[in-house]
Amino acid sequence: MSRDLLVTGIGELATNAPRSPDLVGVVREAAVAIRAGRVAWAGAQADLPDGFEDLPRFDVDGRAVVPGFVDAHTHLVFAGDRSDEFCRRLRGEAYEDILASGGGIHATVAATRAASFDDLAEAGAARAWRLLRQGTTTVEVKSGYGLDVDSEVKILEAARAVGERVPLDVVPTFLGAHVTARGMGREDYLRLVSGEMLAACAPLARYCDVFCDRGAFTVDEARRVLRAGRERGLRPRIHAEQLAHTGAAALAAELGAASADHLEHATAEDAALLRQAGVVAVLLPAAAFSMRAPQAPARLLWDAGVTVALATDCNPGTSYVESMPFVIALACLQMGLTPEEALWAATRGGALALDEADKGWVVEGAVADLAVLEAPSYRHLPYRPGSDLVWALIKDGALVVG
Ligand code: NIG
Ligand code: FE
Repeated sequence: MSRDLLVTGIGELATNAPRSPDLVGVVREAAVAIRAGRVAWAGAQADLPDGFEDLPRFDVDGRAVVPGFVDAHTHLVFAGDRSDEFCRRLRGEAYEDILASGGGIHATVAATRAASFDDLAEAGAARAWRLLRQGTTTVEVKSGYGLDVDSEVKILEAARAVGERVPLDVVPTFLGAHVTARGMGREDYLRLVSGEMLAACAPLARYCDVFCDRGAFTVDEARRVLRAGRERGLRPRIHAEQLAHTGAAALAAELGAASADHLEHATAEDAALLRQAGVVAVLLPAAAFSMRAPQAPARLLWDAGVTVALATDCNPGTSYVESMPFVIALACLQMGLTPEEALWAATRGGALALDEADKGWVVEGAVADLAVLEAPSYRHLPYRPGSDLVWALIKDGALVVG
């Protein structure tokens, strides 16, 4: 596949160039030159320098172009169906009660353990294609529906297979500490996660995550698992302050985690700690939306100077959402972010949350991941929730959709 391209006729290009007064670095009547999958030049088409005449040309006829979305938090690889649980929640049953009675995450664990590797990888790849169709070019994928050594390994290997079958980048995270496996004592399970399971999974993952919350793991337990992960080379990230305020965000700051995710119950003190420690806040508005819960204090976090990312949290329990454009709409309509902040958080913010410094922007040297919108402006992303606005997608300089 060719990784050279000259994209012309861009009506509005959002570059996320640093220090842009409008945050997203809009250039009008723009062009982007791509060589070997990297941005070689971006700017106003009238200023295009010589030397790109040989590139194959792709004219987008006045459409808007944004960086490919970086979805920094998903549980994409799972089997089974929890639409019954969704209906029970609509009728008023609580997520935590369903989980405590052996349903919820445990239902997905049973189905995922029973699934063959091929079926699991195929289900993940089908979801990844739908993410891609909606503009996502990099996706983080967590394990955590296996809860035994072989099944956690199977999920992480399936995540890798997804990245081989679908033209997007997969960043794998080990989430053995999602909940305690049924039938096991808490202490035994924690020993397994930080020992044999981590040893088997660490070579397949970049990060270690813990569901640190009421009904899952405590701050002390999470610290233990994340330290063990760090000793095996996995940087920490934490499911923090989603169902209750437990101190997980402070733990993320203490450990210098890559991110603290969810944060529905985060406070101003948490925001100050995250900012000081340089921890990215990965906000998941589709989870609160699907749970009919209050949204995370995005405004407070942003205004405190915390780096904010947006992600889908795609999972079968709390957020079966595959669309970053829909997440951007929720961030504007329910969290009070501006369209510029939401676009930045869904692209550059996600890249920073995943330590992918050369993604999420359209500057010289960046990975050439671009979404072409069937719209004149990125503003249409939050303005038209649920619409199918991705007209074409360029991954590593190659046209993969459209
Ligand atoms: O991010 N909070 C914990 N984990 C997932 C939900 C998992 C599930 O219900 O299957 C989340 O919301
Ligand atoms: Fe999650």
